[in-house]
Amino acid sequence: MFSYPCPIGSNVSPSVSTNTQTSNLQTSVAINEPHIVIEGGYPLSGSIQVAGSKNAALALIAGTLLATSGVTVLHNLPNITDIADLVAILNSMGAIANLSQGNSTLTVDASAGRFNEPPPHLVSRMRGSLQLLGPLLARQGIVRLAMPGGCNIGARAVDLHEKGLRGLGATWTIDAGCFFAEAPFDGLIGGAVYLDKPSVGATMNTMMAASLATGVTTIENAAQEPDVVDLANLIVAMGGLIEGQGTSRITVTGVESLHGCEFNVSPDRIEAGTYAIAAVATGGDITLIGADFNALSPVLSKLTDMGAHVAQDGNHVRVWSGPVQTLTGTSIVASPHPGFPTDLQQPFTSLLTLVHGTNTIHDSVYEGRFGHIPYLTKMGANIKVEGSVTIVSGVSTLSGADVKATDLRAGAALVVAGLAANGQTRIFDVHHIERGYQELCQRLRQLGARCWHVNVSDTDMLVME
Ligand code: EPZ
Repeated sequence: MFSYPCPIGSNVSPSVSTNTQTSNLQTSVAINEPHIVIEGGYPLSGSIQVAGSKNAALALIAGTLLATSGVTVLHNLPNITDIADLVAILNSMGAIANLSQGNSTLTVDASAGRFNEPPPHLVSRMRGSLQLLGPLLARQGIVRLAMPGGCNIGARAVDLHEKGLRGLGATWTIDAGCFFAEAPFDGLIGGAVYLDKPSVGATMNTMMAASLATGVTTIENAAQEPDVVDLANLIVAMGGLIEGQGTSRITVTGVESLHGCEFNVSPDRIEAGTYAIAAVATGGDITLIGADFNALSPVLSKLTDMGAHVAQDGNHVRVWSGPVQTLTGTSIVASPHPGFPTDLQQPFTSLLTLVHGTNTIHDSVYEGRFGHIPYLTKMGANIKVEGSVTIVSGVSTLSGADVKATDLRAGAALVVAGLAANGQTRIFDVHHIERGYQELCQRLRQLGARCWHVNVSDTDMLVME
Protein backbone atom coordinates (compact mmCIF):
# COMPACT_ATOMS: atom_id res chain seq x y z
CA MET A 1 0.00 0.00 0.00
CA PHE A 2 1.27 3.53 -0.71
CA SER A 3 -0.11 7.07 -0.72
CA TYR A 4 0.25 10.34 -2.58
CA PRO A 5 -1.45 13.78 -2.14
CA CYS A 6 -4.96 13.94 -3.48
CA PRO A 7 -5.94 16.91 -5.64
CA ILE A 8 -9.45 16.95 -4.16
CA GLY A 9 -12.07 18.18 -6.55
CA SER A 10 -9.90 18.09 -9.63
CA ASN A 11 -11.86 16.60 -12.46
CA VAL A 12 -9.38 14.54 -14.41
CA SER A 13 -11.92 13.71 -17.06
CA PRO A 14 -14.62 16.36 -16.76
CA SER A 15 -17.02 15.16 -19.38
CA VAL A 16 -16.59 12.13 -21.52
CA SER A 17 -19.38 11.09 -23.80
CA THR A 18 -19.80 7.56 -25.08
CA ASN A 19 -22.22 6.87 -27.88
CA THR A 20 -23.15 3.31 -28.70
CA GLN A 21 -26.01 1.32 -30.11
CA THR A 22 -27.32 0.67 -26.60
CA SER A 23 -27.03 3.93 -24.70
CA ASN A 24 -25.79 7.45 -24.68
CA LEU A 25 -23.76 8.13 -21.56
CA GLN A 26 -22.26 11.26 -20.05
CA THR A 27 -19.50 10.17 -17.68
CA SER A 28 -18.01 12.66 -15.29
CA VAL A 29 -15.39 11.32 -12.89
CA ALA A 30 -13.19 12.91 -10.23
CA ILE A 31 -9.90 11.51 -9.02
CA ASN A 32 -11.10 11.73 -5.41
CA GLU A 33 -13.72 9.04 -6.02
CA PRO A 34 -12.54 5.52 -5.16
CA HIS A 35 -11.47 3.77 -8.34
CA ILE A 36 -9.33 0.99 -9.75
CA VAL A 37 -6.36 1.97 -11.88
CA ILE A 38 -4.85 -0.56 -14.28
CA GLU A 39 -1.75 -0.23 -16.44
CA GLY A 40 -2.64 -2.70 -19.18
CA GLY A 41 -0.58 -4.98 -21.35
CA TYR A 42 1.06 -7.28 -18.79
CA PRO A 43 0.30 -11.01 -19.17
CA LEU A 44 -1.07 -12.61 -16.00
CA SER A 45 1.21 -15.26 -14.60
CA GLY A 46 1.43 -17.26 -11.38
CA SER A 47 -1.14 -18.81 -9.08
CA ILE A 48 -3.97 -17.73 -6.80
CA GLN A 49 -6.29 -19.48 -4.39
CA VAL A 50 -9.92 -19.36 -5.54
CA ALA A 51 -12.24 -17.75 -2.97
CA GLY A 52 -15.49 -19.24 -1.73
CA SER A 53 -18.52 -18.77 -3.96
CA LYS A 54 -20.40 -15.49 -3.39
CA ASN A 55 -23.74 -16.80 -4.57
CA ALA A 56 -23.49 -20.07 -2.67
CA ALA A 57 -22.33 -18.25 0.48
CA LEU A 58 -25.26 -15.81 0.43
CA ALA A 59 -27.75 -18.69 0.22
CA LEU A 60 -25.90 -20.69 2.88
CA ILE A 61 -25.96 -17.73 5.27
CA ALA A 62 -29.73 -17.45 4.78
CA GLY A 63 -29.91 -21.23 5.23
CA THR A 64 -28.29 -21.03 8.68
CA LEU A 65 -31.59 -19.53 9.90
CA LEU A 66 -33.19 -22.96 9.44
CA ALA A 67 -31.26 -24.48 12.38
CA THR A 68 -33.74 -24.74 15.25
CA SER A 69 -30.93 -25.75 17.62
CA GLY A 70 -27.16 -25.50 17.86
CA VAL A 71 -24.71 -23.30 16.03
CA THR A 72 -23.88 -23.39 12.31
CA VAL A 73 -20.31 -22.66 11.24
CA LEU A 74 -19.59 -21.77 7.60
CA HIS A 75 -15.98 -21.87 6.39
CA ASN A 76 -14.35 -20.49 3.22
CA LEU A 77 -16.57 -17.43 2.87
CA PRO A 78 -15.33 -14.78 0.44
CA ASN A 79 -14.31 -11.47 2.04
CA ILE A 80 -16.69 -9.21 0.07
CA THR A 81 -19.22 -6.53 0.94
CA ASP A 82 -22.33 -8.59 0.10
CA ILE A 83 -21.37 -11.10 2.80
CA ALA A 84 -20.73 -8.36 5.38
CA ASP A 85 -24.11 -6.80 4.54
CA LEU A 86 -26.00 -10.10 4.89
CA VAL A 87 -24.29 -10.85 8.21
CA ALA A 88 -25.33 -7.36 9.40
CA ILE A 89 -28.91 -8.20 8.37
CA LEU A 90 -28.86 -11.42 10.41
CA ASN A 91 -27.60 -9.57 13.48
CA SER A 92 -30.21 -6.81 13.16
CA MET A 93 -32.86 -9.53 12.96
CA GLY A 94 -31.75 -10.97 16.30
CA ALA A 95 -29.73 -13.97 15.13
CA ILE A 96 -26.24 -14.11 16.63
CA ALA A 97 -23.80 -14.02 13.71
CA ASN A 98 -20.04 -13.52 14.04
CA LEU A 99 -17.40 -13.37 11.33
CA SER A 100 -13.85 -14.47 12.21
CA GLN A 101 -10.61 -15.73 10.57
CA GLY A 102 -10.32 -12.68 8.31
CA ASN A 103 -14.07 -12.86 7.58
CA SER A 104 -13.73 -16.35 6.10
CA THR A 105 -15.62 -18.12 8.91
CA LEU A 106 -19.12 -17.33 10.12
CA THR A 107 -20.81 -18.67 13.22
CA VAL A 108 -24.60 -18.32 13.44
CA ASP A 109 -26.89 -19.14 16.33
CA ALA A 110 -30.47 -18.88 15.06
CA SER A 111 -32.03 -21.03 17.78
CA ALA A 112 -34.17 -18.16 19.18
CA GLY A 113 -36.66 -18.71 16.36
CA ARG A 114 -38.34 -15.27 16.35
CA PHE A 115 -36.67 -12.62 14.26
CA ASN A 116 -37.12 -8.91 13.64
CA GLU A 117 -37.98 -7.74 10.13
CA PRO A 118 -34.79 -7.58 8.01
CA PRO A 119 -33.78 -3.89 7.76
CA PRO A 120 -34.89 -2.50 4.37
CA HIS A 121 -31.82 -0.30 3.85
CA LEU A 122 -29.58 -3.40 3.93
CA VAL A 123 -32.04 -5.71 2.14
CA SER A 124 -32.15 -3.29 -0.77
CA ARG A 125 -28.38 -3.60 -1.33
CA MET A 126 -28.48 -7.09 -2.85
CA ARG A 127 -30.66 -9.67 -4.55
CA GLY A 128 -29.30 -12.34 -2.18
CA SER A 129 -31.49 -11.00 0.66
CA LEU A 130 -34.49 -12.51 -1.16
CA GLN A 131 -33.21 -15.87 0.12
CA LEU A 132 -34.38 -14.86 3.61
CA LEU A 133 -38.01 -15.49 2.57
CA GLY A 134 -37.88 -19.29 2.64
CA PRO A 135 -36.14 -19.84 5.99
CA LEU A 136 -38.06 -17.07 7.80
CA LEU A 137 -41.38 -18.42 6.57
CA ALA A 138 -40.38 -21.94 7.63
CA ARG A 139 -39.22 -20.82 11.10
CA GLN A 140 -41.89 -18.31 12.09
CA GLY A 141 -44.80 -18.95 9.69
CA ILE A 142 -44.80 -15.32 8.62
CA VAL A 143 -42.35 -13.04 6.83
CA ARG A 144 -42.25 -9.43 5.68
CA LEU A 145 -39.35 -8.42 3.48
CA ALA A 146 -38.55 -5.17 1.70
CA MET A 147 -37.80 -5.31 -2.03
CA PRO A 148 -34.28 -6.62 -2.57
CA GLY A 149 -31.72 -4.79 -4.69
CA GLY A 150 -28.84 -6.20 -6.72
CA CYS A 151 -27.47 -5.63 -10.17
CA ASN A 152 -29.66 -3.81 -12.67
CA ILE A 153 -29.43 -6.36 -15.48
CA GLY A 154 -33.04 -7.13 -16.34
CA ALA A 155 -36.54 -7.35 -14.87
CA ARG A 156 -35.51 -9.92 -12.21
CA ALA A 157 -39.09 -10.93 -11.41
CA VAL A 158 -40.13 -12.73 -8.21
CA ASP A 159 -43.20 -14.60 -9.46
CA LEU A 160 -41.45 -17.99 -9.17
CA HIS A 161 -40.49 -17.33 -5.54
CA GLU A 162 -44.20 -16.64 -4.97
CA LYS A 163 -45.17 -19.77 -6.90
CA GLY A 164 -42.80 -21.95 -4.86
CA LEU A 165 -44.05 -20.68 -1.50
CA ARG A 166 -47.71 -20.78 -2.56
CA GLY A 167 -47.09 -24.40 -3.59
CA LEU A 168 -46.44 -25.11 0.11
CA GLY A 169 -49.73 -23.50 1.13
CA ALA A 170 -48.45 -19.98 1.92
CA THR A 171 -50.35 -16.82 1.05
CA TRP A 172 -48.42 -14.02 -0.67
CA THR A 173 -49.14 -10.32 -0.99
CA ILE A 174 -47.19 -7.19 -1.75
CA ASP A 175 -47.90 -4.52 0.83
CA ALA A 176 -46.35 -1.03 0.97
CA GLY A 177 -43.43 -2.12 -1.20
CA CYS A 178 -42.75 -5.27 0.86
CA PHE A 179 -43.33 -8.95 0.24
CA PHE A 180 -45.60 -10.50 2.86
CA ALA A 181 -45.97 -14.27 3.05
CA GLU A 182 -47.82 -16.34 5.63
CA ALA A 183 -47.99 -20.09 6.21
CA PRO A 184 -51.26 -21.89 7.02
CA PHE A 185 -52.13 -22.07 10.75
CA ASP A 186 -50.62 -25.59 11.07
CA GLY A 187 -47.51 -24.74 9.10
CA LEU A 188 -46.29 -25.25 5.54
CA ILE A 189 -47.41 -28.39 3.70
CA GLY A 190 -45.24 -30.18 1.13
CA GLY A 191 -46.52 -30.02 -2.45
CA ALA A 192 -45.64 -30.30 -6.12
CA VAL A 193 -43.97 -27.15 -7.44
CA TYR A 194 -43.23 -26.63 -11.13
CA LEU A 195 -40.95 -23.68 -11.89
CA ASP A 196 -41.64 -22.19 -15.33
CA LYS A 197 -37.93 -21.26 -15.47
CA PRO A 198 -35.10 -22.95 -13.54
CA SER A 199 -34.67 -19.96 -11.22
CA VAL A 200 -31.75 -20.33 -8.84
CA GLY A 201 -33.31 -18.15 -6.14
CA ALA A 202 -36.81 -19.65 -6.39
CA THR A 203 -35.39 -23.19 -6.22
CA MET A 204 -33.43 -22.22 -3.10
CA ASN A 205 -36.35 -20.50 -1.36
CA THR A 206 -38.72 -23.40 -2.08
CA MET A 207 -36.13 -25.94 -0.91
CA MET A 208 -35.49 -24.06 2.35
CA ALA A 209 -39.19 -23.56 3.13
CA ALA A 210 -39.96 -27.21 2.26
CA SER A 211 -37.22 -28.56 4.52
CA LEU A 212 -39.28 -27.74 7.64
CA ALA A 213 -42.75 -28.33 6.05
CA THR A 214 -44.97 -31.34 6.72
CA GLY A 215 -44.68 -33.97 3.98
CA VAL A 216 -42.87 -34.22 0.67
CA THR A 217 -42.19 -31.44 -1.84
CA THR A 218 -41.08 -31.98 -5.40
CA ILE A 219 -39.52 -29.14 -7.37
CA GLU A 220 -39.70 -29.74 -11.12
CA ASN A 221 -37.56 -27.75 -13.55
CA ALA A 222 -35.33 -26.89 -10.59
CA ALA A 223 -32.12 -24.94 -11.08
CA GLN A 224 -29.03 -27.18 -11.29
CA GLU A 225 -26.39 -24.58 -10.38
CA PRO A 226 -23.60 -25.68 -7.99
CA ASP A 227 -24.87 -23.01 -5.55
CA VAL A 228 -28.19 -24.88 -5.26
CA VAL A 229 -26.27 -28.11 -4.61
CA ASP A 230 -24.25 -26.39 -1.86
CA LEU A 231 -27.42 -25.19 -0.15
CA ALA A 232 -29.08 -28.63 -0.38
CA ASN A 233 -25.95 -30.23 1.08
CA LEU A 234 -25.97 -27.75 3.98
CA ILE A 235 -29.60 -28.63 4.77
CA VAL A 236 -28.74 -32.35 4.64
CA ALA A 237 -25.80 -31.70 7.02
CA MET A 238 -28.32 -30.00 9.34
CA GLY A 239 -30.44 -33.17 9.38
CA GLY A 240 -32.70 -32.41 6.42
CA LEU A 241 -33.82 -34.84 3.73
CA ILE A 242 -33.16 -33.68 0.17
CA GLU A 243 -32.56 -35.72 -2.97
CA GLY A 244 -31.95 -34.81 -6.59
CA GLN A 245 -29.91 -31.64 -6.03
CA GLY A 246 -27.93 -30.89 -9.17
CA THR A 247 -30.74 -32.31 -11.34
CA SER A 248 -33.95 -30.71 -12.60
CA ARG A 249 -36.10 -32.64 -10.07
CA ILE A 250 -35.46 -32.04 -6.38
CA THR A 251 -37.37 -33.90 -3.66
CA VAL A 252 -37.51 -32.47 -0.15
CA THR A 253 -39.00 -34.46 2.72
CA GLY A 254 -39.83 -32.06 5.53
CA VAL A 255 -38.46 -32.70 9.03
CA GLU A 256 -39.58 -31.28 12.39
CA SER A 257 -36.28 -29.64 13.25
CA LEU A 258 -32.79 -28.96 11.90
CA HIS A 259 -29.60 -28.55 13.86
CA GLY A 260 -26.39 -26.55 13.48
CA CYS A 261 -23.41 -28.05 11.64
CA GLU A 262 -20.06 -27.13 10.04
CA PHE A 263 -19.91 -26.58 6.31
CA ASN A 264 -17.36 -25.46 3.69
CA VAL A 265 -18.49 -23.08 0.96
CA SER A 266 -17.56 -24.35 -2.53
CA PRO A 267 -15.05 -22.44 -4.66
CA ASP A 268 -16.38 -19.56 -6.73
CA ARG A 269 -16.61 -20.70 -10.35
CA ILE A 270 -17.42 -17.15 -11.46
CA GLU A 271 -14.38 -15.62 -9.74
CA ALA A 272 -12.17 -18.44 -11.10
CA GLY A 273 -13.70 -18.06 -14.57
CA THR A 274 -13.06 -14.31 -14.53
CA TYR A 275 -9.34 -14.87 -13.79
CA ALA A 276 -9.17 -17.60 -16.47
CA ILE A 277 -10.67 -15.24 -19.05
CA ALA A 278 -8.29 -12.44 -17.98
CA ALA A 279 -5.32 -14.81 -18.32
CA VAL A 280 -6.32 -15.67 -21.89
CA ALA A 281 -7.07 -12.03 -22.77
CA THR A 282 -3.53 -11.07 -21.72
CA GLY A 283 -1.78 -14.10 -23.27
CA GLY A 284 -0.88 -15.26 -19.77
CA ASP A 285 -0.40 -18.47 -17.81
CA ILE A 286 -2.10 -18.89 -14.43
CA THR A 287 -2.99 -21.67 -12.04
CA LEU A 288 -6.22 -21.53 -10.07
CA ILE A 289 -5.74 -23.35 -6.79
CA GLY A 290 -8.77 -24.91 -5.14
CA ALA A 291 -10.91 -24.63 -8.27
CA ASP A 292 -13.83 -26.91 -9.14
CA PHE A 293 -12.91 -28.10 -12.64
CA ASN A 294 -16.34 -29.55 -13.41
CA ALA A 295 -18.18 -26.39 -12.41
CA LEU A 296 -15.78 -24.40 -14.64
CA SER A 297 -16.12 -26.67 -17.69
CA PRO A 298 -18.64 -24.52 -19.62
CA VAL A 299 -16.14 -21.63 -19.74
CA LEU A 300 -12.95 -23.72 -19.96
CA SER A 301 -14.30 -25.63 -22.94
CA LYS A 302 -15.00 -22.33 -24.75
CA LEU A 303 -11.45 -21.16 -24.01
CA THR A 304 -9.95 -24.37 -25.40
CA ASP A 305 -12.22 -24.16 -28.48
CA MET A 306 -10.59 -20.80 -29.12
CA GLY A 307 -7.06 -22.20 -28.91
CA ALA A 308 -6.20 -21.56 -25.25
CA HIS A 309 -4.86 -24.42 -23.12
CA VAL A 310 -6.25 -25.92 -19.94
CA ALA A 311 -4.78 -28.58 -17.67
CA GLN A 312 -6.18 -30.07 -14.48
CA ASP A 313 -4.26 -31.60 -11.60
CA GLY A 314 -6.72 -32.36 -8.81
CA ASN A 315 -8.13 -29.02 -7.72
CA HIS A 316 -5.38 -27.06 -9.54
CA VAL A 317 -6.49 -25.73 -12.90
CA ARG A 318 -3.86 -24.19 -15.18
CA VAL A 319 -5.01 -21.89 -18.01
CA TRP A 320 -2.59 -20.45 -20.56
CA SER A 321 -2.54 -19.13 -24.08
CA GLY A 322 -0.50 -17.35 -26.73
CA PRO A 323 -1.24 -13.74 -27.74
CA VAL A 324 -4.99 -13.08 -27.90
CA GLN A 325 -4.73 -12.19 -31.61
CA THR A 326 -3.77 -15.82 -32.37
CA LEU A 327 -7.05 -17.19 -30.97
CA THR A 328 -9.99 -18.22 -33.10
CA GLY A 329 -13.45 -16.82 -32.47
CA THR A 330 -16.41 -18.46 -30.82
CA SER A 331 -20.00 -17.62 -30.06
CA ILE A 332 -21.66 -17.82 -26.66
CA VAL A 333 -25.20 -18.54 -25.53
CA ALA A 334 -25.43 -17.90 -21.78
CA SER A 335 -28.04 -20.18 -20.24
CA PRO A 336 -28.85 -21.92 -16.92
CA HIS A 337 -26.30 -24.43 -15.60
CA PRO A 338 -24.76 -26.50 -17.09
CA GLY A 339 -24.85 -23.94 -19.90
CA PHE A 340 -22.35 -21.11 -20.22
CA PRO A 341 -22.87 -18.97 -17.06
CA THR A 342 -24.57 -15.62 -17.57
CA ASP A 343 -22.30 -14.19 -14.85
CA LEU A 344 -19.28 -14.68 -17.16
CA GLN A 345 -20.97 -13.40 -20.29
CA GLN A 346 -19.73 -9.83 -19.75
CA PRO A 347 -16.05 -10.65 -18.97
CA PHE A 348 -16.03 -13.05 -21.94
CA THR A 349 -17.29 -10.25 -24.20
CA SER A 350 -14.15 -8.26 -23.28
CA LEU A 351 -11.99 -11.18 -24.41
CA LEU A 352 -13.88 -11.48 -27.71
CA THR A 353 -13.32 -7.79 -28.51
CA LEU A 354 -9.68 -8.70 -29.27
CA VAL A 355 -10.30 -11.93 -31.18
CA HIS A 356 -10.17 -11.82 -34.96
CA GLY A 357 -13.52 -12.13 -36.80
CA THR A 358 -17.13 -11.58 -35.81
CA ASN A 359 -18.62 -13.42 -32.86
CA THR A 360 -21.98 -13.27 -31.09
CA ILE A 361 -23.05 -13.39 -27.47
CA HIS A 362 -26.63 -14.16 -26.52
CA ASP A 363 -27.66 -14.00 -22.87
CA SER A 364 -30.82 -16.10 -22.60
CA VAL A 365 -31.07 -15.52 -18.82
CA TYR A 366 -31.11 -11.71 -18.54
CA GLU A 367 -32.51 -9.30 -21.10
CA GLY A 368 -30.48 -6.26 -19.98
CA ARG A 369 -26.92 -7.30 -19.16
CA PHE A 370 -25.29 -4.72 -21.41
CA GLY A 371 -23.84 -2.11 -18.99
CA HIS A 372 -20.25 -2.86 -20.00
CA ILE A 373 -20.77 -2.30 -23.72
CA PRO A 374 -20.67 1.52 -23.94
CA TYR A 375 -17.41 1.50 -22.00
CA LEU A 376 -15.82 -1.28 -24.06
CA THR A 377 -16.77 0.79 -27.10
CA LYS A 378 -15.05 3.79 -25.49
CA MET A 379 -11.92 1.63 -25.16
CA GLY A 380 -11.99 0.94 -28.90
CA ALA A 381 -14.09 -2.22 -29.16
CA ASN A 382 -16.35 -2.76 -32.14
CA ILE A 383 -19.66 -3.95 -30.71
CA LYS A 384 -23.27 -3.83 -31.91
CA VAL A 385 -26.33 -4.93 -29.97
CA GLU A 386 -29.26 -6.31 -31.95
CA GLY A 387 -32.15 -7.23 -29.67
CA SER A 388 -30.69 -9.60 -27.10
CA VAL A 389 -27.62 -10.47 -29.19
CA THR A 390 -24.26 -8.73 -28.89
CA ILE A 391 -22.18 -8.82 -32.06
CA VAL A 392 -18.46 -8.31 -31.53
CA SER A 393 -16.02 -7.67 -34.38
CA GLY A 394 -12.48 -8.17 -33.14
CA VAL A 395 -10.09 -5.19 -33.09
CA SER A 396 -6.31 -5.36 -32.85
CA THR A 397 -6.00 -3.29 -29.64
CA LEU A 398 -8.05 -1.71 -26.88
CA SER A 399 -6.94 1.62 -25.37
CA GLY A 400 -7.13 2.45 -21.69
CA ALA A 401 -9.84 4.94 -20.71
CA ASP A 402 -11.92 6.25 -17.78
CA VAL A 403 -14.91 3.94 -17.42
CA LYS A 404 -17.63 3.07 -14.90
CA ALA A 405 -18.77 -0.24 -13.49
CA THR A 406 -22.55 -0.20 -13.90
CA ASP A 407 -22.97 -3.57 -12.17
CA LEU A 408 -20.79 -6.29 -10.68
CA ARG A 409 -19.94 -8.32 -13.79
CA ALA A 410 -19.84 -5.23 -16.03
CA GLY A 411 -17.09 -4.10 -13.66
CA ALA A 412 -15.33 -7.45 -14.05
CA ALA A 413 -15.58 -7.08 -17.82
CA LEU A 414 -13.90 -3.66 -17.64
CA VAL A 415 -11.13 -5.10 -15.46
CA VAL A 416 -10.46 -7.80 -18.11
CA ALA A 417 -10.49 -5.14 -20.84
CA GLY A 418 -8.18 -2.85 -18.81
CA LEU A 419 -5.67 -5.65 -18.24
CA ALA A 420 -5.55 -6.39 -21.98
CA ALA A 421 -5.60 -2.77 -23.18
CA ASN A 422 -2.71 -0.47 -24.02
CA GLY A 423 -2.23 2.29 -21.47
CA GLN A 424 -4.08 3.25 -18.31
CA THR A 425 -7.68 2.38 -17.47
CA ARG A 426 -9.46 3.84 -14.46
CA ILE A 427 -12.67 2.14 -13.35
CA PHE A 428 -15.07 4.13 -11.18
CA ASP A 429 -18.12 3.00 -9.16
CA VAL A 430 -15.97 0.18 -7.81
CA HIS A 431 -18.44 -0.61 -5.02
CA HIS A 432 -20.21 -2.85 -7.56
CA ILE A 433 -17.00 -4.86 -8.03
CA GLU A 434 -16.32 -5.07 -4.29
CA ARG A 435 -19.70 -6.79 -3.84
CA GLY A 436 -18.34 -9.90 -5.51
CA TYR A 437 -14.53 -10.03 -5.90
CA GLN A 438 -12.31 -10.52 -2.87
CA GLU A 439 -9.16 -8.34 -2.83
CA LEU A 440 -9.27 -8.05 -6.60
CA CYS A 441 -6.33 -5.70 -7.09
CA GLN A 442 -4.05 -7.54 -4.63
CA ARG A 443 -4.82 -10.84 -6.34
CA LEU A 444 -4.21 -9.42 -9.79
CA ARG A 445 -0.89 -7.95 -8.63
CA GLN A 446 0.00 -11.41 -7.27
CA LEU A 447 -0.45 -12.51 -10.90
CA GLY A 448 1.86 -9.76 -12.19
CA ALA A 449 -0.78 -7.21 -13.16
CA ARG A 450 -0.30 -3.50 -12.51
CA CYS A 451 -3.57 -2.83 -10.79
CA TRP A 452 -4.41 -0.75 -7.70
CA HIS A 453 -7.47 0.19 -5.76
CA VAL A 454 -7.31 3.95 -5.12
CA ASN A 455 -9.09 5.43 -2.10
CA VAL A 456 -9.03 8.83 -0.44
CA SER A 457 -7.80 8.74 3.16
CA ASP A 458 -8.98 10.98 6.06
CA THR A 459 -5.93 13.17 5.39
CA ASP A 460 -6.79 13.65 1.73
CA MET A 461 -4.06 11.33 0.54
CA LEU A 462 -4.77 8.97 -2.31
CA VAL A 463 -4.17 5.50 -0.90
CA MET A 464 -3.33 2.78 -3.40
CA GLU A 465 -3.76 -0.80 -2.29
C1 EPZ B 1 -28.69 -15.81 -8.98
O1 EPZ B 1 -29.68 -14.79 -9.14
C2 EPZ B 1 -27.39 -15.07 -8.78
N1 EPZ B 1 -27.51 -14.18 -7.64
C3 EPZ B 1 -27.04 -14.28 -10.02
O2 EPZ B 1 -25.73 -13.76 -9.83
C4 EPZ B 1 -27.01 -15.20 -11.24
O3 EPZ B 1 -26.85 -14.41 -12.39
C5 EPZ B 1 -28.33 -15.97 -11.35
O4 EPZ B 1 -28.61 -16.66 -10.10
C6 EPZ B 1 -28.32 -16.98 -12.47
O5 EPZ B 1 -27.25 -17.87 -12.33
C7 EPZ B 1 -27.42 -14.65 -6.40
O6 EPZ B 1 -27.26 -15.83 -6.18
C8 EPZ B 1 -27.50 -13.67 -5.30
P1 EPZ B 1 -32.60 -16.53 -11.15
P2 EPZ B 1 -31.23 -15.13 -9.09
O7 EPZ B 1 -33.75 -16.51 -10.20
O8 EPZ B 1 -31.47 -16.23 -8.15
C9 EPZ B 1 -36.02 -14.85 -14.02
C10 EPZ B 1 -23.99 -12.20 -10.07
O9 EPZ B 1 -23.47 -11.48 -10.95
N2 EPZ B 1 -36.91 -15.01 -12.87
O10 EPZ B 1 -32.04 -17.83 -11.57
O11 EPZ B 1 -31.94 -13.86 -8.89
C11 EPZ B 1 -35.06 -13.67 -13.80
O12 EPZ B 1 -35.65 -12.44 -14.14
C12 EPZ B 1 -25.47 -12.36 -9.96
O13 EPZ B 1 -23.32 -12.79 -9.20
C13 EPZ B 1 -38.26 -14.89 -13.05
O14 EPZ B 1 -38.76 -14.65 -14.15
O15 EPZ B 1 -31.42 -15.62 -10.58
C14 EPZ B 1 -33.90 -14.06 -14.68
O16 EPZ B 1 -34.16 -13.63 -15.98
C15 EPZ B 1 -26.28 -11.52 -10.85
N3 EPZ B 1 -39.08 -15.02 -11.96
C16 EPZ B 1 -33.91 -15.58 -14.64
O17 EPZ B 1 -35.21 -15.96 -14.17
C17 EPZ B 1 -38.59 -15.28 -10.71
O18 EPZ B 1 -39.38 -15.38 -9.77
C18 EPZ B 1 -32.87 -16.21 -13.72
O19 EPZ B 1 -33.02 -15.70 -12.42
C19 EPZ B 1 -37.20 -15.42 -10.55
C20 EPZ B 1 -36.37 -15.28 -11.65
